Formats: sequence, C-alpha cells, structure tokens
Amino acid sequence: MYSLQLIVLSAIPLAMSASPQLLARQSTTSITVNTEKTYQTMDGFGFSEAFQRANLIVSLPADKQKSVIDLLFNTTTGAGFTILRNGIGSSPDSSSDHMNTIEPKSPGSPSGTPNYVWDGKDSGQLWVSQQAVKYGVKTFYANAWSAPGYMKTNNNENNGGYLCGVSGQTCSSGDWKQAFANYLVQYIQYYQAAGVSITHLGFLNEPDYSASYASMQSSGTQAADFIKVLSPTLKAANLTDVGITCCDAEGWSTQVSMTQQIKSAGAESLLSAITSHSYTSGPSGPISTSRKVWQTEYGDLNGAWTTAWHGSGGAGEGLTWANNIYNAIVNANCSAYLYWVATQGGSTNEKLIQIDSSNNVAVSKRLWAFANWSRFVRPGAVRVQTQGGSLKTSAFKNVDGTLAVQVINTGSSAASVSIALQGFNGTAVAGWITDNTHDLSSTTAQISSTGTVTGSVPGYAMVSFVVSGS
Ligand SMILES: *[C@@H]1O[C@H](CO)[C@@H](O)[C@H](O)[C@H]1NC(C)=O
Ligand SMILES: *[C@@H]1O[C@H](CO)[C@@H](O)[C@H](O)[C@H]1NC(C)=O
Ligand SMILES: *[C@@H]1O[C@H](CO)[C@@H](O)[C@H](O)[C@H]1NC(C)=O
Ligand SMILES: *[C@@H]1O[C@H](CO)[C@@H](O)[C@H](O)[C@H]1NC(C)=O
Ligand SMILES: *[C@@H]1O[C@H](CO)[C@@H](O)[C@H](O)[C@H]1NC(C)=O
Repeated sequence: MYSLQLIVLSAIPLAMSASPQLLARQSTTSITVNTEKTYQTMDGFGFSEAFQRANLIVSLPADKQKSVIDLLFNTTTGAGFTILRNGIGSSPDSSSDHMNTIEPKSPGSPSGTPNYVWDGKDSGQLWVSQQAVKYGVKTFYANAWSAPGYMKTNNNENNGGYLCGVSGQTCSSGDWKQAFANYLVQYIQYYQAAGVSITHLGFLNEPDYSASYASMQSSGTQAADFIKVLSPTLKAANLTDVGITCCDAEGWSTQVSMTQQIKSAGAESLLSAITSHSYTSGPSGPISTSRKVWQTEYGDLNGAWTTAWHGSGGAGEGLTWANNIYNAIVNANCSAYLYWVATQGGSTNEKLIQIDSSNNVAVSKRLWAFANWSRFVRPGAVRVQTQGGSLKTSAFKNVDGTLAVQVINTGSSAASVSIALQGFNGTAVAGWITDNTHDLSSTTAQISSTGTVTGSVPGYAMVSFVVSGS
C-alpha cells in the first residue's frame, strides 16, 4: 500500500502535493459540461420564517440581528438566499406561534364588506422581508396555511376543513371563494404599500394533511376551482406579476396526483409554479407539467441539533442537505429549493440557525450547504448538461455570464477532476471547497489554454468551480 501511494504521489504536480488531502489515493474523473444542452431556469433558494419565527430575529439586539440577517441574505458572508416564504395568517390572535389574520371578524356573509386590519408587522415577517429587499431579494412567496375559519366548512382555521364553495363542499353561509381571493389580494397590497412586491402566491399548505394548527384540505380538482377565481381577481387588481402556485402537498407523490387533477380541470396554465414538500415522499423525478417546479418545504424536524458537515450521514448534516438539493435540481427538475425555517429555539434540526432564549446564535452546516448552491447559482441561471464520472455533478450558466459547476463527492477518497467545457470558452476559474475542515478555502483549480478545468475534490466534500469567460 505504501509503495502504491508513492507512485500516485509522483504523478501529482509539486505545487499540489503540499495538501494532505492528496496523500490519499486519487482517481481522475473526466466530466464534460455542455452549455448548449439546457434544462430548467432557476428561481433560487430560500426558507420560511412563518409561525412567529421571524420575531426571533426582530427581538435580537441590533448587532446579533445584523449578523443573522447577513447569514441569511449576504452573498459574501452568508448564504445569499433569494426566496422568502411568508405565511399568510388565519388566526384571530398572535398568541403562541399563531399568525394573525388581516380579517379577524367575519363580514357576516361572503358578499359582506370586509373589515381588514393591518398591524404593520405580520408576525415579524414584514420586517424580515424589508431586510431581504435591502439585500436584493426579489422573490417573495406568500402562502396561506388556511382561510379564516368562517370561510370554511368546519368554521375553524385549524383541523383541516375545506374552503366553502369548492366542488362538493357547500356551506349554509354561502360560497367564499371570491371573498378569499379578495382577501389574498388585500394581503399582497399591504406588502406592496410597505415596499415588498410579492411575486408568488399560494393558498394551500399541506392540503393532504389535517393538522391541529392552521390547515385547509383540498384535492387538485378543488384547488382548480379556486385558481379559476383567484387568477382573474389578481388580474382585475393589476397584480399580473403575481404568479399563483399550488399546492405545497406534504409529499411529492401527492403533488404529482394533484397536478394531474389541476391539468384535467384545465387550470394548469393559470399557475406559475407547482410546489411540493418532501415529508411523506421526496422528489422522485420530474413532475409532469409545463410549469416550474419548486420544492418549498423540507427539514429534519426531529433530529437532535447538529452543526456537523459530515459524520454518520445523519438527516441533519450539511453534506446530506447538499445531496438533497442536488437530487431535487438535477433529478427532479426543481427551479427552487426551500428549507422549512431559518431560525428557531429548541434542540432539533428544524431550523438552519438556532437562537436560544438567551439570544445565543448557533449556525448549522445545513445553512452552509445551501450557501454553496445559493451563492453561485443565482436567480435566472439555466441548468446545463453534465456528463461523465461517478461524482454528483451539476452546472449552471448564470445571468452574469459565469458558469458554476458543482461536484459532490459522497465517497471517502479524494478525486481529481478534469472538466471539459463545450460551448463555453473559459478564461479563469475559482474553486471553493466545503468539507468537515474547510471553511470555503479556495482550492487549487486551474484552467488550461484549451479551456479544460482541473481540480481536486476531497472525500465527503462539495466543490464549486466558478468559470468566467464566454
Ligand atoms: C455583506 O457583507 C459585506 C462584508 O461584511 C458588507 O460589506 C456588505 O455591506 C454586506 N451587504 C449588505 C447588503 O449589507
Ligand atoms: C389597473 O390599471 C389600469 C390601467 O393603468 C387602470 O385603469 C385601473 O384603474 C387599474 N385598476 C386597479 C384596480 O388598480
Ligand atoms: C422541467 O421544467 C420545465 C419548466 O421549468 C419544463 O418546461 C420541462 O418540460 C421540465 N422537464 C422535464 C423533464 O420534466
Ligand atoms: C470560442 O472561441 C472560438 C475561437 O475564438 C469561437 O469560434 C467561438 O465562437 C467561441 N465560443 C463561444 C461560445 O464564445
Ligand atoms: C460552504 O460550506 C462551508 C462549510 O460547510 C462554509 O464554510 C462555506 O462558507 C460555504 N460556502 C459558501 C460559498 O457559502
């Protein structure tokens, strides 16, 4: 074994042999990136601060507040997230983790004049949104977990129930579809007046799950009934830039069948994106739709808090999340990937950043796994083809002309990579390593006169190569 290592070492250029990473046996992987073969366009990466999580940041002392906001949105010192998913409240109050509604009192009937109430806070979410705007975030996803209770079959914002008036669900109080659409428009207008342009609107969250908290059930067919009311209502309010999403199902396979029902009902073209969570089943492949697909919520809800990048391969580790994101984008055609919440107290991996009751802030490597995607794959980037080798590779052409190539090595041995570029004349390259011990060390990436990129990817690491050129 020892002599074998010597032979391998002798093949390594002197400048690189200084790295202890390279003492391990290396194989060379040849990868081809073809920028002429294109796939989906990316919208970005994000998280939610619903259910009063935003207030954890709002309540921090100024210096810590700034550092948490930087961790989330700064493209040089943080994750550079580009999508914020806000919860549209349905609760009559803000006690516990309730998100309060803008219409706490029933107008008496669906055609009654609504009495909207705006507190200028929206459970802390407006403030976080306004910070995001300052960092250049342009994608805001407003998502209702439920309509207010009086618009529903069970007269309760909790415990499931349906929106009165969707197929098969009649109520003695009448059909509330138009009133709910008006209500969602009003919410968007409050944000607009506060300097935040909502770009995406969802009216369901896990409609396949009747939760003890805010929840509203729906099939794809029933969702289509409402989409057909919501779409013209947005247009009439001149909110033509707001795209409707559906349905944030609890799992991928439910979302696949709900999407099929929406198509059968003729409402697919009224949508901007198909949205799904990954709890009951994860992204198993592309969803059959002409719309963009977003993975809008997933998290390690029960695992004990960890800040590890790679250890036992646990559900909360950074490398696990680098892989989850890879799978959704490369194998399931996703244009966006969102974690559940950014901040929370408690001792699970439900969040990316832990803020305890003494305002101590701890950052997980999950956040940095997102950062390794989000900072380099910017909104508008188009995924392009990668081929060759057994490593997990992906590549994106950014709007600014750079080409970002990700290589994830899930094995224990380091690998040398040689990346040939088709349709792209690379002139310079930068490489960034992420693993147990590296905090974004720049790695020894080179580009030859013929435009081939070479570098090394240690075991259990993710390396991003950013190539500039034409
Ligand atoms: C991001 O962080 C850098 C470095 O600390 C800082 O110069 C920059 O102002 C920050 N960006 C924003 C939008 O605050
Ligand atoms: C929408 O825009 C049109 C044209 O600018 C204007 O006439 C109309 O009043 C606007 N409607 C609303 C609801 O703002
Ligand atoms: C991927 O998504 C795009 C929309 O973003 C769609 O046009 C395309 O058909 C999808 N590809 C596959 C393989 O489903
Ligand atoms: C790359 O350079 C060659 C030779 O100068 C040129 O013919 C080709 O158009 C360039 N390709 C791109 C994508 O710019
Ligand atoms: C990637 O992750 C590592 C640690 O896991 C982190 O130190 C580094 O800053 C991240 N890279 C980016 C670009 O955020």
